[in-house]
Amino acid sequence: MKNGLDDVIATETILSDVDGAAGRLIIRGRSLDELAGATSYEDMLALLLAGFFDPMPDPPTLGALLGRARRDVFGHVASSQSALLSLPTIDAVRVLLAGIKDRDDLSSALALIAAPAVFAPAIIRLKSGEEPIAPDPQASHAADILRMLHGEPAREEETKALETYLVAVSDHGLNASTFAARIVASTHAGLTSSILAALSALKGPLHGGAPGPVLDMLDAIGEPSAAGAWLAAALDRNDRLMGFGHRVYRVRDPRADALKEAGRRLSKVATARDSRFALAEAIEAAALKILAERKPNRPLKTNVEFYTALLLEALGFPRESFTLVFAMGRVGGWIAHAREQALYGRLIRPQSKYVGPRPTQAA
Ligand code: SDX
Repeated sequence: MKNGLDDVIATETILSDVDGAAGRLIIRGRSLDELAGATSYEDMLALLLAGFFDPMPDPPTLGALLGRARRDVFGHVASSQSALLSLPTIDAVRVLLAGIKDRDDLSSALALIAAPAVFAPAIIRLKSGEEPIAPDPQASHAADILRMLHGEPAREEETKALETYLVAVSDHGLNASTFAARIVASTHAGLTSSILAALSALKGPLHGGAPGPVLDMLDAIGEPSAAGAWLAAALDRNDRLMGFGHRVYRVRDPRADALKEAGRRLSKVATARDSRFALAEAIEAAALKILAERKPNRPLKTNVEFYTALLLEALGFPRESFTLVFAMGRVGGWIAHAREQALYGRLIRPQSKYVGPRPTQAA
């Protein structure tokens, strides 16, 4: 049963193109290589959202409006009940997100873009017994996220590393969570409904839930010499190696190197960081080798999540929040796709082929 829609073109889009054979990602006509590390998240949002809201403010104004949106959505956190804190962070964020009015205008879009950036640090701090930190509307999006998480301004290279990540994951063709956002937008439900569907899809370990388990794998292996045996045992159990393989890329994910370098530059404690990277590189090499041996007919290369795990760990995010950091970047793409679908698309309603039993006599 072809139930993964492999290679099916489900829609046309002007937003992004993922070239799986060449390992190339284009977002609104720009190559990822020229965007990641050189573009602010605010400018990336302006690029993604251009044409989907009228009027569309220029990038500096959009950045100022996003800062005010962070300040405004922070009010939802104050209403969070202790029951919220018993939920996994991503589920607590979903509950808070549902409180944002389900509309299609730019202010709702900015509230939804601000939401994961504000809610996740607040819930993380509440869960560790600390008070949430109110947003600073004047700060850049990436700098404000780290300030709300740690309670103090981040170092320049930390802000730059997070910004590189948010830009690199901001949009990526018709991945599962973006497709979920488009399906909901095609029924003309509001943007909040689209984002709730997308965040729910992203949560899955086959999609955006992989970075945390990548760290679990590194911790379980512990040292380079143990990698081969551990990975072989995992594959013997038919486990998936988190951070490897992709539905579209048949070569290395072009985002992997940008994120690896961004993480490596975080020289908080150089020796400790270097040994963490050395372990990761050894595990990556061993994994690529054994996957090639075990699955010779299926190219399984490093995907975006493998080095994301080290980058987000170095930035001080708890691993159970990594998927939410992914959402902080991808929400810009989800909004753009939802708007493209609502403005120019139709209700998404594919056919299915019935293969179940049929009535024995003519009904
Ligand atoms: C993201 O689509 C996007 O663009 C997603 C994303 C984005 O930016 O939105 O790029 C983000 O989701 C990246 C992927 C993060 N997920 C992981 O790292 C989880 C581990 N990877 C996989 O489970 C898997 O590679 C998928 C889900 C990502 C893609 O798998 P497919 O295309 O559905 O392939 P499949 O499940 O049909 O597997 C084909 C074969 C199988 O072997 P056989 O049964 O044919 O013998 O490859 C094997 C699989 O067992 N395989 C793996 C594997 N991935 C596929 N075996 C071991 N480890 C893996 N990681």
